[in-house]
Amino acid sequence: MIASATLAQQLQLVYLLEKEDLAETGKQFLAGLRQTPKTISPRYFYDAVGSDLFEKICDLPEYYPTRTEASILKQFAPEIAAITGNAELIELGSGSSTKTRFLLDAYQTFGQLDYVPVDVSASIVELAAASLLKEYQNLTVTGLIGTYEQAIAHLPDPHDLPRMLIFLGSTLGNFSPSECDQFFAHTRRSLRMGDYFLLGVDRHKSTEILEAAYNDRQGITAAFNLNMLTHLNQRYGGNFDVKNFAHRAIYNTEKCQIEMYLDCKKSQSVHFAALDTTIEFAAGESILTEISRKFHVDQLQTYLVQQGLKTVKMWGDRQDYFGLVLTQAI
Ligand code: AVI
Repeated sequence: MIASATLAQQLQLVYLLEKEDLAETGKQFLAGLRQTPKTISPRYFYDAVGSDLFEKICDLPEYYPTRTEASILKQFAPEIAAITGNAELIELGSGSSTKTRFLLDAYQTFGQLDYVPVDVSASIVELAAASLLKEYQNLTVTGLIGTYEQAIAHLPDPHDLPRMLIFLGSTLGNFSPSECDQFFAHTRRSLRMGDYFLLGVDRHKSTEILEAAYNDRQGITAAFNLNMLTHLNQRYGGNFDVKNFAHRAIYNTEKCQIEMYLDCKKSQSVHFAALDTTIEFAAGESILTEISRKFHVDQLQTYLVQQGLKTVKMWGDRQDYFGLVLTQAI
């Protein structure tokens, strides 16, 4: 049991999120609905209900990424720690830090350890930090609550140890190629030469396995996709009738990406009172809500070198479903 004074010394929470400018985010949201195909940012998945549904997705029998990545981490975290030596661990999109525990366990051999979780959800970071500090005696946690960009601008001063950025869960796959470029341009600036970046990525594989992972039999992914409309109704005073839409996920083999859509079952006008705007939806029209890119690791490694990150080592599972790539800033 750690005394609370000690706990306070080991924990710092930094709140970086600015109050949402509804007019500004609303403008971007409407711009997406005026594109062809209509597009809604996947950020609208994650209200409280959506975050809960995502946790459930991670446990689905068809959704292999979470448990596959966890098994790779469990097996190879000691090797990662042996390569990097002690390091300051900064995790982007840390969520509940569940899989990170394999790394934290492995880095225990070094004694004192600094962990910086970054997430937009304050409650998730607060909860994760509290339980980590109970579990690990020699840990200092600096939780940054904000976007990746905000967090990168507010990282603690670098110390003598190398820094390791950690980006798990193949969240990289939810970025378009240009968003990926921006992400690496931004994050690479926070690394000195020789610092590390550990990346978890989902790999290209058969359409059957991929489409099953995003069209689960219990309908949890469908509920996750449709919940976006309920969230938008609450946020922008909308009147989407959720039962007029259907979830669909397909694997685009040319682009190597899962595409999630909400298909409009009948024509309808949707009014957003907070934005004073009405948008028409035609029967048979599809709204793109997410891409989830699947990577060829050799191509990814070539791309990463262009971003200033050379691969040190890559680990995978027996089926080559998922990859964990340790890179170093050059
Ligand atoms: C968060 N992200 C990596 C998930 C994915 O697989 O692209 C989001 C998700 N969408 C549907 N299922 C899971």
